[in-house]
Amino acid sequence: MRKKIIAGNWKMYKTNEEARQLVSALKSNIQVIKKTRVIICPPATALSEVALLLTGTPIALGAQNIHWEKEGAFTGEISAGMIKSVGAAYVILGHSERRQYFGETDEKVRQKILAAQGQGLTPIVCIGETLEQREKGITREIVATQIDQGLSGLTAAQVSRLIFAYEPVWAIGTGKNATPAQAQEVHEFIRGRLTSLYDQATAQAITIQYGGSVKPANALELLKQADIDGALVGGACLQADSFLEIIKAAESCS
Ligand code: PGA
Repeated sequence: MRKKIIAGNWKMYKTNEEARQLVSALKSNIQVIKKTRVIICPPATALSEVALLLTGTPIALGAQNIHWEKEGAFTGEISAGMIKSVGAAYVILGHSERRQYFGETDEKVRQKILAAQGQGLTPIVCIGETLEQREKGITREIVATQIDQGLSGLTAAQVSRLIFAYEPVWAIGTGKNATPAQAQEVHEFIRGRLTSLYDQATAQAITIQYGGSVKPANALELLKQADIDGALVGGACLQADSFLEIIKAAESCS
């Protein structure tokens, strides 16, 4: 059975002082975490400090983005090796906000996957359709293209070291989550696509998280679905209480 993975994407929130407060509130309830893998992804400025605060806890650390090159004259950018060196083990790639506001393409996602894995980071690869695409009935085509192009040239061994996050863009930050049935349908499609590109054993072993307005009130029903292996949480991870409630929901169905 696939282990549930709950990741918190802090986005561009939390100064270091606020980060310390949130981590300390999570740590004082750490006993909630038993079987679930929990990852928090603070902004790059807080990574070093949060890494130290998480030492000895079961909470892992992730970044929200990397550059695809190892190093170079790329003002303002951060490499996979730099992220690794501050103690992070994961990195979110291809988030819809990066695709929408920073022109991130499937080809860039592919290059970033290689850069991350080259440094031993585990990518959390985000895919998902916009409202317009869903209304046109092309959700499957969009998700299939993101998978095919984002993973182009990757071997089954490389793909087996990825986490996917299906995040319908219309559900992100809107308070309007996909229903468990809507999410399950796309998760099953994604797993099927991975089966046809690779093989059944690879596809069955891969974690596919759901993201988009996950909150304590809807987490359990989403996480109970056969192909939903965890959640990528935005807004609800910024407060310890709501993030811990989502972790509890994962614990109760794993
Ligand atoms: P949300 O964000 O939970 O605030 O909708 C999810 C995400 O962007 O990963």
